[in-house]
Amino acid sequence: MPDAPAIRPARAEDVEAIDAVIRAAFAGTEFGHQGEADLVRAVVTDGDVLVSLVAEGGESIVGHVLFSRMDVETDGSVLPAAGLAPVSVSPEWQGRGVGDALIRAGHDMLREQGVVISFVLGHEDYYPRFGYSPELATRFASPFAGPHFMAMMLDSGAAWPLGGRADYAPAFGRMG
Ligand SMILES: CC(C)(COP(=O)(O)OP(=O)(O)OC[C@H]1O[C@@H](n2cnc3c(N)ncnc32)[C@H](O)[C@@H]1OP(=O)(O)O)[C@@H](O)C(=O)NCCC(=O)NCCS
Repeated sequence: MPDAPAIRPARAEDVEAIDAVIRAAFAGTEFGHQGEADLVRAVVTDGDVLVSLVAEGGESIVGHVLFSRMDVETDGSVLPAAGLAPVSVSPEWQGRGVGDALIRAGHDMLREQGVVISFVLGHEDYYPRFGYSPELATRFASPFAGPHFMAMMLDSGAAWPLGGRADYAPAFGRMG
């Protein structure tokens, strides 16, 4: 195996390679695979990408993470917010810290953009290590409410909003 992959912003010419890594990562999972690749393309087409990063191992793309714009209102005001989905690592690279590196680099870029909160719908054993909390997410009305719906303040010292609503970008609503 080559050295740890380098993380960099996705470029327009990466589209096919990103599709391939998503399909490979999600093949055989409960989520299915084409749906996630289509979702990423739809978010891009809609102009709702906040951060899209790839992990490049040697000549090829071995991981990808997308953070999309969310519509979040809390305590009477709009909160700059992101949704993490999907994150994908090629099967042969899984369990080697690539997903971790993509997510942490994505959070740094969101902070630079002034995004204050990030949401994720995912496994409750994986995302809390980054700071995601199901408890924070319960303060937000969402069609995805439940134990897999988590949120984190990107400034870990920031006070938690008291309550509000959190809506994913429109492309998520169009997915079957
Ligand atoms: C989930 C995924 C992105 C994690 O990336 P990764 O590079 O394999 O993970 P890392 O090496 O950074 O972290 C490894 C840890 O993740 C855990 N992990 C990996 N996949 C997991 C999953 N589907 N659910 C829960 N935990 C998972 C491992 O158990 C390991 O935990 P440990 O550190 O306590 O031993 C990757 O495994 C993947 O692409 N999976 C298939 C697609 C998917 O399920 N994506 C997430 C839904 S949006």
